[in-house]
Amino acid sequence: MAFPHLYKQAVIRYIVLMKKVSLTGIKPTGDLHIGNYFGAIKPALELAKEYDARYFIADYHALNTMKNPAELNNTIRQVAACWLASGLDPEKVIFYRQSSIPEVFELTTMLMAFTSKGLMNRAHAYKAAVQENNEKGDDPDAGVNMGLFTYPVLMAADIIIFDSDVVPVGKDQVQHIEMAQDIAQSVNANYGQQVLKIPQAAVQENVAVVPGLDGRKMSKSYGNVIPLFAPEKTLQKTIMRIVTNSQSVEEPKNPDTCQIFQLYKLFSDNKEQDALAVRYRKGGMGWGEAKEELFRAVNRELAPIREKFNAIMADIPSLDKILEKGAERARPIAAATVKRFRKAAGID
Ligand code: TRP
Repeated sequence: MAFPHLYKQAVIRYIVLMKKVSLTGIKPTGDLHIGNYFGAIKPALELAKEYDARYFIADYHALNTMKNPAELNNTIRQVAACWLASGLDPEKVIFYRQSSIPEVFELTTMLMAFTSKGLMNRAHAYKAAVQENNEKGDDPDAGVNMGLFTYPVLMAADIIIFDSDVVPVGKDQVQHIEMAQDIAQSVNANYGQQVLKIPQAAVQENVAVVPGLDGRKMSKSYGNVIPLFAPEKTLQKTIMRIVTNSQSVEEPKNPDTCQIFQLYKLFSDNKEQDALAVRYRKGGMGWGEAKEELFRAVNRELAPIREKFNAIMADIPSLDKILEKGAERARPIAAATVKRFRKAAGID
């Protein structure tokens, strides 16, 4: 009877080992808002249930644009605290800072030798910077540092170093994943063997578009965001600023074209949504009341996350320990990839 037992264990082990690797980088940006929460954080945490997930803070990528040390330092912690407060389990997900994995930078240097300059010339972010300079009549490369120009190589190293199968990203990052594929393929073709794993982009298609205060997509650049971690009073005031039309209290209203209702849907269950839709259509409910309903629902979901976030931010040494532990788990995997590549390259 020992055999079925061992067999079962072997099957379980096989399934665990076969779990695919999902990896994504989070560029630290300040002032997190509910668009980030529904657009990036929640879907990535969903994926972490199925995949062997590695999520990291891309702090060296941020250095390209953030030159203020206090600001960068604080933003790194805020983003990390945000993910933990939102439910990332650092026991399950390998959660670390890019800057804690020196092997990533060694791999970047190796990949540079396989990356044509022409490929980098075609990168959207670089091209956009050049175009903007041209329009202003400036030197085409004004304000472009080598970090920005070679951004896709560092990103390729981030991905390739962990033998990643899938990379959950927004549409804007797909070109970067394709470049990572190109670069890895050049390496494999040169050595005639599968030295590096070719990653695939997992584009988040069915992620909710979160409307902002003015009805356009919620975005920091539009200045229309609802912050994730603002104190309750500020949250309420922000929601009260949502732009509405001039329909009177008495008039029946259409929930389907109203951004208050679209936002409400993200924070409520079907029954609550139906109930509010009925009040919209019946008339007699003013915009102020609809906003109050929205505030209650938003605050119900965000209050516990906000509390956790504040608690984490009040104890930075513990937060740093979590990230360090993640890096300790990540480094042997990273070192193995670099070793494999160095051996193939004759630098061993
Ligand atoms: N470029 C990504 C962004 O701006 C962040 C990032 C860095 C990343 N390295 C990565 C994403 C590796 C996925 C995989 O959002």
